[in-house]
Amino acid sequence: MDDRTTNVAAGDLNYDSYESEIYDDDIRRSIPGHDELHKKFEEVAREYIASNKVERILELGIGTGLTSEKILKLIPTASLTAVDFSEKMMDGAKKRLSKYNVAYILGDYAEINLDDDFDMVISVIGIHHQKDEGKKKLFRKIYGSLKSGGVFIFGDLVTYKAKTKAAINDAQHFHHLVEHARNEPSLKEWAYHHKFLNLLAPIEDQIDWLKEAGFSEISVAYEHLNTALIIAKK
Ligand SMILES: C[S@@+](CC[C@H](N)C(=O)[O-])C[C@H]1O[C@@H](n2cnc3c(N)ncnc32)[C@H](O)[C@@H]1O
Repeated sequence: MDDRTTNVAAGDLNYDSYESEIYDDDIRRSIPGHDELHKKFEEVAREYIASNKVERILELGIGTGLTSEKILKLIPTASLTAVDFSEKMMDGAKKRLSKYNVAYILGDYAEINLDDDFDMVISVIGIHHQKDEGKKKLFRKIYGSLKSGGVFIFGDLVTYKAKTKAAINDAQHFHHLVEHARNEPSLKEWAYHHKFLNLLAPIEDQIDWLKEAGFSEISVAYEHLNTALIIAKK
C-alpha cells in the first residue's frame, strides 16, 4: 500500500519545463486572488513581526521564492529554512534570494524531519497536494516545529463544506483560468492541474485539524473563491 501523503511527485507538476519568470506569471494568472492573498500575507506578517521576535522562519514549498522574498524584505536579518521537492523551482528561489540567509532542503516536507525551534512557519499555495490525512499529520508536524508563541501563516487553495459554494467557486476558478491564461497550452496545463492534481479540503475541516494539532488562536485573514489565508498561533 502507498502510504505517502503527497499525491504527486515534483515531476507530475511539470515544473522542470518552466523558467521561473514564466512560472511566476502563470501562477499569478491561474490563481484568482494570488496578488491580494500576498498583500494580506505581507500585512499579517508585518503586524506579527512588529510585536514578536522572529529570527528563524521555515517555509514549506518555497517554489521560486515569490512569497519568501516578501517576508525577507520585511525582516532581512532572519534565517529562512526552505523545503521543496522540485530542484528546478528551488533554483529559481536561489537566484532570487541570493542576498538573504536561506538554507535549502530538497525533499518532500511530509517525509523529512523538521527542526523544532522556528518562530514562524509559512506556506503559500504549497500544501494542497496533501491528502486529508497528510494535512492533519503536517499540521501536527508544523505545530511541533514552532517555538511556544510562534505563528503559522498559511495561504492555500481551499474549498467549503457547503456544496453549492464549493461548486460555484470551482466554476469561477475555471472561468478565471479561461479569461487569464497566458495561452492555450498554459490553460490546458493549469485546468488539468486544478481538476486532477489539487486536493482541496474544506476550510472548516482545515481549521478543525489545526485546532486538533494544538494551535490555540486561529483566524482567517483573507478569503476569495478557492483561496484563503489562515493564521494559527501556538
Ligand atoms: C505552487 S508553489 C507556490 C510558490 C509561492 N509560495 C506562490 O504562492 O506562488 C508551491 C511549491 O511547493 C512545492 N511542494 C508541493 N508539495 C510539496 C511537498 N510535499 N514537499 C516539498 N515541496 C512541495 C512545489 O514543488 C512548489 O514548488
